[in-house]
Amino acid sequence: SNRTPLMAGNWKMNLDHLEANHLVQGLAMALSDAGHDYSKCEVLVIPPFTDIRSVQTVVEADGLDIKYGAQDVSIHDNGAYTGEISTSMLTKLGCTYVVMGHSERREYHNESDELVGAKARKVLDAGMTPILCCGEALEVRKAGTHVEFVLAQIRAALAGWSAEDVAKIVIAYEPIWAIGTGETATAADAQEVCGAIREALRADYGDATAEATRILYGGSAKPANIKELMAEADIDGALVGGASLKADSFAQMAGFY
Ligand code: G3H
Repeated sequence: SNRTPLMAGNWKMNLDHLEANHLVQGLAMALSDAGHDYSKCEVLVIPPFTDIRSVQTVVEADGLDIKYGAQDVSIHDNGAYTGEISTSMLTKLGCTYVVMGHSERREYHNESDELVGAKARKVLDAGMTPILCCGEALEVRKAGTHVEFVLAQIRAALAGWSAEDVAKIVIAYEPIWAIGTGETATAADAQEVCGAIREALRADYGDATAEATRILYGGSAKPANIKELMAEADIDGALVGGASLKADSFAQMAGFY
């Protein structure tokens, strides 16, 4: 395909700003030692808000090709929203991606598909790329309704969007039962859902959008299983939690090709 693979490291609530500085330097070194070709796989780190400035400093000082973004954002512009972070605060720090709808935020912060969709809209309008997360719980998987469930999440979030805008986003499929559990979906299981997402995009928005939109897999992705996952036709990268916190393992994953 013409889609550039994306290896995205979601640090979640880990690492202070000094550790962040250390990890990005280590990652840059590991990628450089491996002769990483950024045109074959884009590398993205997604640190906590308090680490972003630190990451920016390393990236700019060393002229790195590593991209960085945020794990969440407000749907509001600046103003009286205590505890929130705006898109303009992120763009000024050089962020190019923002995650929304991660299952941890849906669960612990009650985020609805509607809110997730509004965040994606806000991020796209600010010139950054939304990474829209979706994924089913174990009960849904056991009931065999996981494909319908995931497609419903995406369709609810993107209701009313144009084909051109949908082509600019990244979708991350993360089955909740595989997150942080060490239990990876098999490559075939991941492909089943990622393929169904692409076919739904084709039905809703046409071929050009379906072929352009990048779809990531997330859930215990690691060096040992990344090649197999990336060999699937509709998996364009991974949203990596645990394995993104070690420079060597994440660099190895980015070098899957
Ligand atoms: O955003 C990342 C996912 O939740 C996966 O996390 O790789 O630690 O299972 P994990």
